[in-house]
Amino acid sequence: MSALEDRQVLSARGVTVRFYTYAGVVHAVTDAYLDVYEGESVALVGETGSGKSVFTKALTGLIDPPGRIESGSVLFRRRDGRVVDLLKLSPEEVREIRGDEISYVFQDPSSALDPLYTAGDHIAETITEHRGVPKGDALREAVSLLRDVMIPNPEVRVKNYPHELSGGMRQRVVIATAIANKPRLLIADEPTTNLDVTVQAQILDLLKDLRSKYGMSLLLITHNLGVVAETADRVYVMYGGRIAETADVYTVFESPAHPYTQLLLRSVPNPLKKIERLESIPGTVPNLIDMKPGCPFAPRCPFAMEVCSREDPPRVDLGGGHVVHCWLHAKR
Ligand SMILES: Nc1ncnc2c1ncn2[C@@H]1O[C@H](COP(=O)(O)OP(=O)(O)O)[C@@H](O)[C@H]1O
Ligand SMILES: [Mg+2]
Repeated sequence: MSALEDRQVLSARGVTVRFYTYAGVVHAVTDAYLDVYEGESVALVGETGSGKSVFTKALTGLIDPPGRIESGSVLFRRRDGRVVDLLKLSPEEVREIRGDEISYVFQDPSSALDPLYTAGDHIAETITEHRGVPKGDALREAVSLLRDVMIPNPEVRVKNYPHELSGGMRQRVVIATAIANKPRLLIADEPTTNLDVTVQAQILDLLKDLRSKYGMSLLLITHNLGVVAETADRVYVMYGGRIAETADVYTVFESPAHPYTQLLLRSVPNPLKKIERLESIPGTVPNLIDMKPGCPFAPRCPFAMEVCSREDPPRVDLGGGHVVHCWLHAKR
C-alpha cells in the first residue's frame, strides 16, 4: 500500500469488480485506478456500460451481491488527516464516511428522495445522522443549504415534498443533502442526464460554484464530453471496465492518444474546435461477460493490431500526467 501524496484526497488502485450472474461472470471493472487532489474537479467519461458507476460505487464499497470487489485499494485522507483504505474498513466505518466526508449525487433525483419526506427532512436527516445535531437546528441548517444550492424561497421550499418540486429543484435538494456535512469529495454520477438542457447547465454551474465555496473535490461521472470540457481539470476515460487514458482536460481535447478517446471526441461537439459533422462510433460497447484477454476496444478500433486482441494493453506514460493504455504507443 503506497501512501498518499501531499494534497491528495483519494487514490484508487487496481480496483476489480465482477458480478456473478446466471448468464456468466460480468467483468464490470478491471484494474481501474483514479487519483483526486484537494479542490480539483475530475471527470470520469465513457459510453454507457463502460463501468463508470460500478467503479465509483466500489470506491466506498457500495457493491451488492451478486457483485464482488475482487481486489484493489482506495486510500482516502480523512478530515482529521488519517489515511485509510476504504476497501479494508468495516461496513460501519465506511458508512460513517459516506454521506459525510464522501457523498454521492446520482442520476435520478426522484429515486434519491423519499416521497413521504420533505426537502428539509432529507437534509436534516443526514446532518443529524453524522453530526448528532438536534432536528430543529438541522432544519435551520437545511434552509441555509437550500439557499446555497440557489433554491428561491428556501424557508418555504424546506417544507415541500418531492412532488411539489421540479426535476431541477429535486436535484438541487439532493445536492444540498450531499453537501450538508461539507464532504471532502463529492461524487456526482451523471447528475444532469435526466434534466432538460437549460437546467443541466445550471446544475453544472452550481456544482462548480459549490466546489470552490465548500473547498471540496468533485468527481463528475458523465458520458458527455461537453460536460467534461466545462467542468473538469483532469479526465479519466473508461472503456470496457478499464481506464483507457488519463490526462488534463486540455490534453484530452487537443492531443488524445487512445483511439477510443479520439473517436469519442468526434462523436460530440468539441467546444474547443469547430467540427461540422458529428460521427458515431461504429460497433457497440463490449459484452463484459466472460471477457477475454486483450484490449476491450480492439474489436471496434480502426488501428487494431494482432497483439491487441491477444494481450492486455501496456500502460504507457506520455509525461505530464498523460497516461494511455494502448499497444499503438508501446515503446519497442
Ligand atoms: N447488479 C448488476 N448485475 C450484473 N451486472 C451489472 C450490475 N450492475 C452493473 N452491471 C454491469 O456492469 C457493467 C458496467 O456498468 P455501469 O458501471 O453501470 O456502466 P456505466 O455507469 O459506465 O454506464 C455493465 O456491463 C453492467 O451491465
Ligand atoms: Mg452509470
